[in-house]
Amino acid sequence: MIQIDRRHFIASLGGAAAVKLMSSEAKAEALESYMIQQVAKKFPKAADIEAQIETRSFRRGVGNLFLNTQPNGKVKKLQPMPAKPTFLDFFKLRMEQTSNHVLQSANRAMKTGMTEEVILACLLHDTVHALIKTDHGYWGAQLYAPYVPEKVSFAIRYHQALRFYEDKEAGYEYPDLYRNMFGEDYVPSAHIEADYKMLRSHKWYMEPRLVTVNDLYAFEPGVVVNIDPFIDIVGRHFKNPKEGLGNDDSPVAHMWRTIAMPDNPL
Ligand SMILES: [Fe+2]
Ligand SMILES: [Fe+2]
Repeated sequence: MIQIDRRHFIASLGGAAAVKLMSSEAKAEALESYMIQQVAKKFPKAADIEAQIETRSFRRGVGNLFLNTQPNGKVKKLQPMPAKPTFLDFFKLRMEQTSNHVLQSANRAMKTGMTEEVILACLLHDTVHALIKTDHGYWGAQLYAPYVPEKVSFAIRYHQALRFYEDKEAGYEYPDLYRNMFGEDYVPSAHIEADYKMLRSHKWYMEPRLVTVNDLYAFEPGVVVNIDPFIDIVGRHFKNPKEGLGNDDSPVAHMWRTIAMPDNPL
């Protein structure tokens, strides 16, 4: 029996908050793959990941609000939204599953003296997981673009691509989490590679890069961060529409309504 470094194991899964959301079956599976890795430093191949598709009743890209991945798990009745919901209402009532992770990320950005745009981008970067996970950088940027400075939506959009590419000088190493999640021989899609090439010479390269830097170190088990230190930054840079998000007739209002009312059948 090999010795498990509990802290490292939890961190490899995305932190205590992420672990809390995993089913016992998923935890057992993760522990098994962690132990195999510790012995052989072996990661799955992309083909192994693909072979898992037909073992599930859901697809991995589905948004958090739409399923419970526990065996025989049920979804919960959601709390009603206020008539004119703001970003903070959505954050508290619909984005709980990513809130601890993004708060830790924003906290690191703040502690290391990054710009308010980067701090806000960190706070928002994965929250669209409530709606959808596939290509979440692009979905997230689209969801927030009408309401935040362009640099912020740029950082959200491209953090997803940059996570696949190391930049040790900036403090970003390719994470084992991805070797496990995608397979060690995974090759990012053509659109990701094309965006990476474009970003390398872009004047805003560091915006999404810093989101990835904070993202990696955001996996701190046991750290609980509150939204309060970020309320002023949200207030300064997030333009909540007076009608409320979803009622504002913006090009993405339907996305907010879907997050507000994921139980609507059509
Ligand atoms: Fe992300
Ligand atoms: Fe993240």
